[in-house]
Order: sequence, then C-alpha cells, then structure tokens
Amino acid sequence: MARLDVTETFHGISFPGHLHTQDSLQQALEFQFRDTDILIVSYPKSGTTWMQEIVTLVSNKGNPHISQTIPNWTRAPWLEQYYFAAMLKASSNTPRLFTTHLPHHLLGPALQGSKARVIFVSRNPKDVAVSYYHFHKLANFLPETGSFEQFVNQFLDGTLHYGSWFDHIKGWTSQAADLNLLHITYEEMSMDLKGAIRKVSCLLQCPLLEEEVSSCMKHCSFNCMKDNRMINYSLIPDEILDHSKGCFMRKGQIGDWKNMFTKEQNQHFESVYRSKMQGCSLEFVWERQ
Ligand code: A3P
Repeated sequence: MARLDVTETFHGISFPGHLHTQDSLQQALEFQFRDTDILIVSYPKSGTTWMQEIVTLVSNKGNPHISQTIPNWTRAPWLEQYYFAAMLKASSNTPRLFTTHLPHHLLGPALQGSKARVIFVSRNPKDVAVSYYHFHKLANFLPETGSFEQFVNQFLDGTLHYGSWFDHIKGWTSQAADLNLLHITYEEMSMDLKGAIRKVSCLLQCPLLEEEVSSCMKHCSFNCMKDNRMINYSLIPDEILDHSKGCFMRKGQIGDWKNMFTKEQNQHFESVYRSKMQGCSLEFVWERQ
C-alpha cells in the first residue's frame, strides 16, 4: 500500500504532511482564543482521545448521544490541522472545544492572557513510546519505524513527528501557573477515572449528579470506546490507517512498556530521562512506579 508519509517541517519539528500545511500550522499560532474555549493539549499517544471523550460526556451530563454520532475530530478538532479553519466556520458550538499536539513554545504566545481552559494530558513516556511505535505500524501517514530500538532512540532524540516529548512536557508544565490549566495523567485516568471526571467537571463548571458520573464512566471505558465508531478511528479509510495491522484502541494499559523494553533499553531510557528532566521540579506519577 502506498504510504502517505510526507513530512511538513515547521519550526524544526516534523508533522504529518497528510494533516498539516505550513499555513494550517501558522494559523494555529495566530489563533484568537476566547475565554470560554476548552483546549485539550497532549503529546500523541498520551490519552488525547480518551480526554476528548471525557470532555464530551461531561459537557453532556453523561448523555452519550453526541459521542456516538459525531466523530471526535469534528467535535474536538486539532487546531493545527488543515481542515480546522473550515470546521471552525461551520461550527456554532459554545463553548468551543479544540485539541492540539503543539508544544508550549509554539502555542503559548497565542494563549497568553487568555482564560481559555486548558486540559493537559500526559503519560509515562515509556508507554507513550510503545503506543506510538505500534501506531506507526498502522498509520500510513507516519514514517516507517525500523526496529523498536531505533524508534525509542528517535523518541529520546526528539526527532519523531510532533517533536520531543521532553520539550512538550517541560514546556506545558512549567507554564501551568500562567494558564487556566488542569494537568491530568493517563495513569490518573486509569487508576481513578471517577476522580478525573470530577476534576474535568469542576474545570468546565459542569456539576454532575452521581448517576451522570456513572454514565460518563461507562461510556469512556476502554471497552465502550473500542466499540464506538465515532472515536475508535474505524471510519478512517484503510489507505490512511491500515486496520489489518492493528487497532487504534490497542491495549489501554499502564506499564505495557515492560513487555517491550529490554533491561538495557530501560537503563538507557532512564539515564536519558534523568538528564533531560533535570531541573524539572514536578514529580510525575510514573516516576513512582
Ligand atoms: P495504547 O496504544 O497503549 O493502547 P491518543 O488518543 O493520545 O492517541 O492515545 C492513544 C492511547 O490511549 C492508546 O494506548 C489507546 O488504547 C489509549 N486509550 C484510549 N482510550 C482509552 C480508554 N478509554 N482507556 C484506556 N486507554 C485508552
């Protein structure tokens, strides 16, 4: 099958050319946020889609109608992707809900002074790397991966599409105090989904009854999302996502990296992690695992 892996390089970071143009990326940097906007920010494979589902369900008090009838890229479009401008024009949603994978050093200036609510989702970078590796196998718009070892080295070097995980997390978490930002980890969503839903409902000022929380929990569970065509990416044609090579909703687990990393790869990862995260005062949940 022909690959669609044309790369768009923007400010030194590569992006899939299948979804991004220089214009669409530049327009994201110049975007005029409203104080009522909700923005989900993540590095790829950190739980973005899960958070899109949580926000949709919380905003609809646990009613799954929207999440079962409108694809996630329409209800929470990516700011930087080429179809964003057309989608924005066609939508009259309030509050507006967007997603982005852009790092803070690129998008931060557009958010400066804004009260837009930012939900930053992060995940153990070892699990991100494993999930991203598997995703490259089915995504024809991403480059061929080579071996897992080569892939992890590219991840650590920050040369994969969407740039460095380290720059991404350090950028957004270091600026959290200047933004209306809620930081939730994938691990937190896995271990305490109810608590994560409550935090989102609080940020969105959308109080929920106990049965509404239960409905949110049910509809954003891994199994429910795996069967929901509006969120499991099965609507994407095979030329773009080769469904014979795997599922977008793959495993949904914490610690899957242990099935992929050798002892040496883990040691190397740890040592690069320590050196790149030096000076970062936050303690992340995966550092305790
Ligand atoms: P795995 O590949 O480890 O299974 P993103 O949306 O940022 O691209 O992240 C995709 C990852 O989130 C995939 O991880 C996917 O399975 C996982 N995911 C999505 N929804 C989930 C849910 N409801 N519960 C647990 N994991 C979920």
